[in-house]
Amino acid sequence: MEKYDHIVVGSGIAGLTYALKAAETGSVAIVTKRGRATTNTAWAQGGIACVTSPEDSFELHAKDTLDAGAGLCHEDIVEMVVRDGPGRIRELIALGMSFDLRETPEGTTELDLGREGGHSKRRILHAHDFTGLEIENTLLAAVEKHGSIRVFEDHMAVDLITTGKLGYATEDRVVGLYVLDEKSGTVNTLRSDRIVLATGGCGKVYLYTTNPDIASGDGVAMAWRAGAAVSNMEFVQFHPTCLFHPEAKSFLISEAVRGEGGVLVNSSGQPFMDRYHPLKSLAPRDIVARAIDAEMKRTGAKCVFLDITGKPRGFLEERFPKIHETCARLGIDIAAQPIPVVPAAHYQCGGVKTNEHGETSLRGLFAIGEAACTGLHGANRLASNSLLEALVFAHNAFVKATRNQRAPGEIRIPEWRPGSVTDVDELVVIYHNWDEIRRLMWDYVGIVRTDKRLQRAAARLRNLQKEVQEFYWNFKVTTDLLELRNLVTVAALIVDCALSRKESRGLHYTLDYPQTDERLLHDTVMRRV
Ligand code: SIN
Repeated sequence: MEKYDHIVVGSGIAGLTYALKAAETGSVAIVTKRGRATTNTAWAQGGIACVTSPEDSFELHAKDTLDAGAGLCHEDIVEMVVRDGPGRIRELIALGMSFDLRETPEGTTELDLGREGGHSKRRILHAHDFTGLEIENTLLAAVEKHGSIRVFEDHMAVDLITTGKLGYATEDRVVGLYVLDEKSGTVNTLRSDRIVLATGGCGKVYLYTTNPDIASGDGVAMAWRAGAAVSNMEFVQFHPTCLFHPEAKSFLISEAVRGEGGVLVNSSGQPFMDRYHPLKSLAPRDIVARAIDAEMKRTGAKCVFLDITGKPRGFLEERFPKIHETCARLGIDIAAQPIPVVPAAHYQCGGVKTNEHGETSLRGLFAIGEAACTGLHGANRLASNSLLEALVFAHNAFVKATRNQRAPGEIRIPEWRPGSVTDVDELVVIYHNWDEIRRLMWDYVGIVRTDKRLQRAAARLRNLQKEVQEFYWNFKVTTDLLELRNLVTVAALIVDCALSRKESRGLHYTLDYPQTDERLLHDTVMRRV
């Protein structure tokens, strides 16, 4: 059994930032289930929202965040994140991150700030349209340079080990982690009193998503099984513009395209967003996604279109090289024709409930990044606030984790017992269940919900949970099986949270309760009983 001062699960912006800071104070292990750069962060196109311009202010950034959040943002958290943001961005730049610059009329350079839906000012720092990849590479280079951070690639966290599960009569806390080494198939025990979940979101719970395949809600599911509180899972953000093309899997057309003048039009080429919101194509995401859904249902079309042909080709090639090139490869010339798009699951606004330090309700367990529900996003995340949140909370969690953490004393952890395992020879069942969850979530728990559909989803998920649990006990664990187990857990949490919110607010829209109800102005908090 190896022991570390800190174990970080996940190697995106939140996990790497925490790990780099923590490595200055003690030993750190990063556990990541594929290669170290296979993260949600690496897919982020838009950028980081942060106040850096004299024309902007913390008050405006806070107001935009609160307006998007539909009453559920925690104002103290919003205030803290927008104010601490510039300091955290400076640290990232000091590590080598370079954001796009532009020339001023005076011949100097300044940050080239982008605009996205719901922002009253240009405030998105970006690196062309592959900001996340640049950040990921910068942080990984710093980890490499540091030299002493142990990175376990192709290792998937199975479950948290807590004193409660081990039968200690002391206060429940985390003391370690069981980890599957995918290559050898063995499950190892890692010991630590500080475990940080930075596992990203759960987009793969839906049939259509902008997320990579790894986004199976692992952190939320593990924290839930360990007894930590989970919050606001009903608020799943659907990005309005995922590329609609049979050969394009999960490819996002960044909101920054609308920020630069892209207009949503229907299949007859008619702009339609003016019928839904005064900000038209740049309305907050929940409104745009619902409008597209309504438009597609109204016209029977399979997609709508994003028209950015008003911009010169040179500008599009320079500002959106990845989008331009990916579309061109699929035969879509974005300078000459509108881009076919559909909404797709994009971001989990809920997660493991934390305080301002990223601490969960389970001692020693932290959650940061998309895996966490910190109170910043409320019922609807403002675009490009998430990378900022990840930086701010990685720092806060590091500060807290390295101060005042009472160690639990000597703990005896049993090795993982595989039991009477056999290899999964019925892989088809895993894939079938995986597909079934994703399809039923898309059909019954999507952009527009009803109680009836949610109840149907809940009933089916309960059966699937039983089946998956049986598999888990009877067969040798594999990454596929563990992901399926997490996926079904998170799907059930989304449905349970959605069923408990008898109103429409932010991203949760139900035909049965189409209005907001001011008596329900509080987070949904779930605990395992
Ligand atoms: C985008 O580029 O549209 C995504 C930005 C975000 O989700 O914050």
